[in-house]
Amino acid sequence: MADGEYRPATLDEVRRLRAELNLQKKKLVFTNGCFDLLHAGHVRYLKQARALGDALVVAVNSDASVRALKGPTRPIQSQNDRAEILSALRSVDKVIVFDDQRVTKLIEDIRPHIYAKGGDYTIESLNEEEHEALEFVRADIKILPLVQGRSTTATVNRLLGNTAPEKEIVVASPPGGLRLGVLGSGKGSNFAAIISAIKRGELNAAVAVTISDVQNSGVMKLAESAGVPAVFVDPGPEPNKLAKPAQKEICDHLKKHHVDVVVLAGFMRVLKSPVLSTFKDRIVNVHPSLLPKFKGLDAPQQAIDEGEIESGCTVHLVNEELDGGRILEQATVPIHIRDTAEKLHERIKEQEHKLLPKVLNEWRERGLPVWSEGKK
Ligand code: GRF
Repeated sequence: MADGEYRPATLDEVRRLRAELNLQKKKLVFTNGCFDLLHAGHVRYLKQARALGDALVVAVNSDASVRALKGPTRPIQSQNDRAEILSALRSVDKVIVFDDQRVTKLIEDIRPHIYAKGGDYTIESLNEEEHEALEFVRADIKILPLVQGRSTTATVNRLLGNTAPEKEIVVASPPGGLRLGVLGSGKGSNFAAIISAIKRGELNAAVAVTISDVQNSGVMKLAESAGVPAVFVDPGPEPNKLAKPAQKEICDHLKKHHVDVVVLAGFMRVLKSPVLSTFKDRIVNVHPSLLPKFKGLDAPQQAIDEGEIESGCTVHLVNEELDGGRILEQATVPIHIRDTAEKLHERIKEQEHKLLPKVLNEWRERGLPVWSEGKK
C-alpha cells in the first residue's frame, strides 16, 4: 500500500471497536448501503444514524455487489473510493466493504447494538434474513426518515441532462418504450424492481397504471409514492376469483391508460375475459417456480416438499390455464438443506427482480405483439 493510501477497516478492527464500546457501556450503530455518489441526503442520514449511539460503522457494498443490485452501469465509483469518501465524514467512525448482497453475515459477526436503515424501508419490508440476524444479536432497529428529493438516480439523471423529475421518468411514455399496466395484490417488490429498472434506464417503459384488488396493499402505496396512478378494484366476494364486474373494470382501466403490456406482479386472482381477450399474448406473469413444475399457490413449499435441489422463477404469457401460458424466460435458484419456503421465496424473488424487467425490455426485440406503435 502506497503512503497515505486509504484502506477500509477490517472485520477484526470493527469487532474490536464493538468490544471497546461494550466495555464502556456505549453503543455501536451499524448501517449499510452502496453510497455510489455521496449527496446531502446521505450526509444527513449518516449524521442522524451516528446520533443514535456512540460510534457509527458503515458497510459499503463491494463493486460486484452493487453491480448485482443496480445493474451493469453501476457503481460509478470504486468500492475503495466510496469507502474513503465516507470515512472522511465526521459522523462515520469506520467503513467496511462487504461482498454479499445482504449484510446478514456482517450483522452476526459485528453484533451491533443499533441498526439504522433509510426511511424507504419499514421494519416489515426489511430483508427477512437480515431481520432474523438483527433479532438474533438483539440489535435495536431504527428506521430514519428519508431525505426527500435527494438520490443518486436523480443526480445521475441530472448529469445526463435529463432534468425531468424522477416521477415523470416513471410515468411518461418514453419514445419506443412500452406502456405497462401492473396488477398486484401484495408487497409489490416486483413492482419496485420495475420502477428501479425504469429509473436506471435499463427498462425502456413507463408504468401507465397500477391496479390492485387489495386496498392499501404495498404495491398501491409504492405506486402512489412513485406518482403512478393507483386504482383499487373491488374483486367481489369470492377468494382468488374476480367477479365479472371487476374483470370488466380492470379491462376498462387498462384501455383508458393505453396499456401495451399487462404485468401480473403478485396478482393473486384469476383473470378472464374481457382482459384475456383484449390483451391476448400481451399479459405476462411472474411465478416463483420453474414452470411447468409447481403451478398455483405456495410454489416454493411445493418444490421443497418434492425434494427438489433447485427451483427458480418463470416469466410467462398468461392464458386461460393457470400458470400455463408460453414460457418466456426462467432463472434457477438452488434449494439449500433445511431451507424454509420463506427463505427460498426470498431468494427466488431476488431473481424475479432481475428477470421480469429484463424480459419486458426485450419485449419488442422478441417480436411479441404490442398495442400499437406510436398510437399513444
Ligand atoms: C412473487 O414471488 C411472484 O412470483 C408471485 O407473487 C410474488 C409477488 O411478490 N406471483 P411481490 O408482491 O412482487 O413482492
